[in-house]
Order: sequence, then structure tokens, then C-alpha cells
Amino acid sequence: MFSGSFEACGNIIPASYVQQARNARKSRENQIRIFLEHRKWPSEGWDDTSIELLLQELSIMDSNNFPGNVGAGEREGRVISSLVSRRHFRLSHGIGRSGDITAVQPKAAGSSLLMKLTNCMALDVIKLAGVRSAKACLVLPVATGMSMVMTLLTLKQQRPGAKFVIWPRIDQKSCFKCILTAGFEPVIVENVLEGDELQTDLAAVERKIKDLGAENVLCVFTTTSCFAPRIPDRLEEVAKLCKEQNVPHVVNNAYGVQSSKCMHLIQQAARIGRVDAFIQSTDKNFLVPVGGAIVAGFDGSFIDAVSKTYPGRASATPSIDLFITLLSLGSVGYQQLLQQRKEVYSYLAEGLSRVAESHGERLLVTKSNPISLAISLERVTKALELNAAGVTQLGSMLFTRCVSGARVVPPGSTKEINGYVFTGWGAHAKNYRCAYLTAAAAIGMTKAEVDTFLKRLDKCLSKFTSKGTTIDELSSHCENGEEKEADIENKDNSTVNR
Ligand SMILES: Cc1ncc(COP(=O)(O)O)c(C=O)c1O
Repeated sequence: MFSGSFEACGNIIPASYVQQARNARKSRENQIRIFLEHRKWPSEGWDDTSIELLLQELSIMDSNNFPGNVGAGEREGRVISSLVSRRHFRLSHGIGRSGDITAVQPKAAGSSLLMKLTNCMALDVIKLAGVRSAKACLVLPVATGMSMVMTLLTLKQQRPGAKFVIWPRIDQKSCFKCILTAGFEPVIVENVLEGDELQTDLAAVERKIKDLGAENVLCVFTTTSCFAPRIPDRLEEVAKLCKEQNVPHVVNNAYGVQSSKCMHLIQQAARIGRVDAFIQSTDKNFLVPVGGAIVAGFDGSFIDAVSKTYPGRASATPSIDLFITLLSLGSVGYQQLLQQRKEVYSYLAEGLSRVAESHGERLLVTKSNPISLAISLERVTKALELNAAGVTQLGSMLFTRCVSGARVVPPGSTKEINGYVFTGWGAHAKNYRCAYLTAAAAIGMTKAEVDTFLKRLDKCLSKFTSKGTTIDELSSHCENGEEKEADIENKDNSTVNR
């Protein structure tokens, strides 16, 4: 009920009741007013009623919801399915205008407000998560890989002659492909092994800049979040080098917002050197469906240029999802999730180490990777004299037992991506010392999930290490899923202790 109607309500039912309802309504209105005035991410999460109230208010500001509106253009926000309309909270104009994704649409005041407010909150998140000196950010309605394409293409406007992207190797296909899609030539820098960890070869990055000529290099493209045993790139040193050589530096921080370590690396790199932009996925950091990414940086004009590189309008969905999620969590709720993730990381590390040791394997020492962990599969490989394909059956076996995301990396596999051949694909190195399995302690994972994962892993590893199991039997375990997962759980006499 809106302000002018309360008096009328008081003529229908007792005015004292109406006054009480009015006070309750007022407190929600205040919540919304304060948010609009300050454009700050609230510390306490909102309940769904307040969020829906705000979404409702925003949607009735869009012309497709104006009573009596006649749309005489080719795009008037008409949506034929009421289910689709409700899925989008009746916001159907999208965001941006031709040629600028942050431009305000006259026909869509509500959607435009939502887009601006989401960008404000996203910047608050980036700062709170550790990159305190970030100046601007932009929520794009495309996932990380495409957002990196947009960023590289924006850099090209500043350096039209540059055609090389120096890329410390990370075996993740989309971040390599984005260099090709944007029309640049990747210059792959192999990692160096230190202990179990794969690290940036800084000297090689420097050599490449010198050999190619700094003016021909579009950027150095580093990565923070990655699968173990690779660790985040040496961001500070690369940033320093980029500053000295006047070469842009873009950071792939795909799932790094959830890690204070990744965010600290970016903050420090920008403090002592050059970071032009860093890019993070919305789904991997904020528990929303796949579809968006945040491009952030330390120079508002560069982020502005990225927004102007986007051709046409864009879907509002990733912004709506992030808007709702951030309001719902509040900064306190998000910080709790970050803290939980840290605890789950230690819990997973301990558990993996225990299971690995019980099978004669070990947790690889990759302490500088704050999210992903790996255990060796040396004995498993040797026991069955498995070839590269053989050991990956452990991954298939886990998958048929409803464990997704764990990756088994055999040594020596190769992959060709658009004519570039990667030896040792998956391992971030040509010849990593052993086969291994990775698992990630990602935001949202619970200790109960870790327990279940470890039980299933233990069970699967037993099949690999038990005497007399043949490769054919292993294949059939994978193909048939053999026992149903519930049976495994029920019968489980696992050696995993907690
Ligand atoms: C390190 C890294 N970079 C880039 C990507 C690509 O992300 P998206 O699928 O959101 O484009 C991923 C996806 O997992 C990733 O792990």
C-alpha cells in the first residue's frame, strides 16, 4: 500500500491496525530509501519481501509496464509468456543502449537503476574482498571468457599495433581461446616447477617482452585462481615489469574473489606496478547461475571504455541475479561465506591428505594455491601399470558416483587448440612429475559435502589399489556405475576418519 491510500484504508478497517501496517511498510521503505541514497551494499541481508518490493517498484518504472502505454517501436519489451515475464520480474528492456552497456534507457528507468546499483554493489564487494583501491567495475552479461575478449578488444583501441598476448600457461581452455577469439597471437610462457608447485617463469616473461618489442605486446595476461599444482601467478613482479616496460597487464581472477589471497595479490600488484583490469566470474564467486562476469580496474576511464566496446543492448539477467543475491546476503552474509570457505579448505586439505596416505599417495604441497588441492596418483598408476587413459578412469568412476568437478590429470596427454599444441595438457606443464587428482574448496561447499566426497574417493581408490583388480574390471566399474551411490553410502565401512 502506498502513502496516499492509508487514510482510505482507515475508513474501511480500524485506523489503529492500518497505522501498525503503515509503520511496518515504512521500515521497508526506509531500507530502500537508504540504499538508493547511499548506493552502498547493505551490511545486513534483506528478506525476500523487501527485495521483491524493490524489484516491483523498479519494474513499474519501465515503459512496458506503464498502464496504457503504446509501443510504436520495434523493441518495446513485449513478452508473450507470463512465465518468462515473471522470471524476469517484468523487467524486459535489458540494460544499456546501442554502443554503451552502462547508458541509461529512457524507456527503462527501473532497469537502468538496477544496472547502476548492481555495478555500485559489485565495486563494494571487490573492495571488501580485498582490492581496496579498485576504482570502477562493470557487470557484463557474458561469462568470464567473453568478458576477457571484451577487455582485450578495449586494450586494442589504445594499442592498435600490438598483436601479442603474453600468457603464463594455465590449462583452462576458455582463457586461452579468448586470446584467439579477440584476434591476438598468444605467446605461451611455460611455468617453472618449485617443489610440487608450478610458478610463473618471470625471467621468460621479461625475455618475451624484450624479444617481441614492448609496443607489439597487447598485454601480459596473468591468472590468480587455477587448479593445483599451478599456483597464482607472481602478480606483483609481473605488474612491476609491466609498469617498467609500459605494457598493459590483465588479470584473470575467474574465481578469485572468494579468496583473500588472490584479492590481496591483485591489490599489491596494483600498488607497486601495473594492473589495467581484472576479471571475475559471477557464478563462481557469488553462487548465481552462469552468465555474467565483473570487469574491474583502477582507472575508471578504462572500465568506461570496456562498457562502450559492448555493441548493442544486453540481457539484464546476470545483473538481476547479482542484485538479488548481494541484497539477500548483505556484506555480513558474504563475509560469512568467505570465512566458511577458508575453513572448508583446511578441512578438505586434511581429509585429502588422510585418504591419500591411506592409499600410499600424498597431498601435493601447493600451499600457495588457496582454493584448489591435488593428491598424487603415483601408486595408483604404477599398481595397475596404467597408461594415461587408464588413470583417468578414476575420474569417470567418481563421476558415475555423483562426484563432479574432481579432475584426474594424467601425465603426457596432448591437446590441440586452434593449431596450438599443448603437451602435458591439464597439468599446466609439459611434463609434470606424476598423475594427480584435483579438488577445489569453492565458495558454498560444506564440510558435509567434503565428507561424502572423501568417502566416495576412498572407495574408488580402493578399487584401484586392491590386489588383483584388472583394468577391464575398472572399466566396467566406470561404465556401469556398479553399485548405486545410496548402496555405497549404506554399506560404507570406509577407512576415512574425521
Ligand atoms: C581460470 C579460468 N579462467 C577462465 C574460465 C572461463 O570462465 P567462463 O566459463 O565463465 O567463461 C575458467 C572457468 O572455469 C577458469 O577456471
